[in-house]
Amino acid sequence: MDKDFILSPSLLSADFSKLAEELKFIESNGGKWVHIDVMDGHFVPNLTFGAPVVKCLRSCSALPFDVHLMVSEPENYVEAFAKAGADYFTFHIESTIHTDRLISFIKQNDMKAGISIVPTTPVSALSCVLPLVDLVLVMSVNPGFGGQKFIPYCLEKIELLKKIRQDENLNFLISVDGGVGSKNIESVVNAGADVVVSGSAFFSGELKL
Ligand code: DX5
Ligand code: ZN
Repeated sequence: MDKDFILSPSLLSADFSKLAEELKFIESNGGKWVHIDVMDGHFVPNLTFGAPVVKCLRSCSALPFDVHLMVSEPENYVEAFAKAGADYFTFHIESTIHTDRLISFIKQNDMKAGISIVPTTPVSALSCVLPLVDLVLVMSVNPGFGGQKFIPYCLEKIELLKKIRQDENLNFLISVDGGVGSKNIESVVNAGADVVVSGSAFFSGELKL
């Protein structure tokens, strides 16, 4: 592996009946952040949890909460997640019109602003906002479910983001989400990922650090 990275295990693959214990499992198995997938059954065809659950979990872990919103109109949830204790508020560029305004609103609420793209959205769609965000999350599966297969063309998007960041002297973190396990984590990190999200591979024990 060329460099260090932050492992952000996704609670989507945890046992929902014992989330507090799962947070401890993350901490003792190399997790540095906690990735929390929020789904609304509209932007993606699945439902998970919202700010009240995040608020309850906040007292169970000191790790940064990396909240990934797969919801329509994410602007409606900024204040609730800020109050619940989210550190990163990452939304999809495909889910809202007023992206620039939303990034400012997230920062006004004292959270880091992240932006995500689904596999078919090109990196060029982010050109105006790259100087404004703290994190870019490259989805390497179609969002909505854990346990899917990594889509190989997403590697090129990671490499391109790394190059743009260097050429334009920018500071955002590059995060990769979906289908990452022991067999491909090295290629993802070597392509430029600073943050690696892992759900099923982490919780099944397939990915061990
Ligand atoms: C999928 C979620 C991912 C998911 C990753 O829509 O955004 O965070 O939990 O799960 P794996 O690692 O199993 O692909
Ligand atoms: Zn996610």
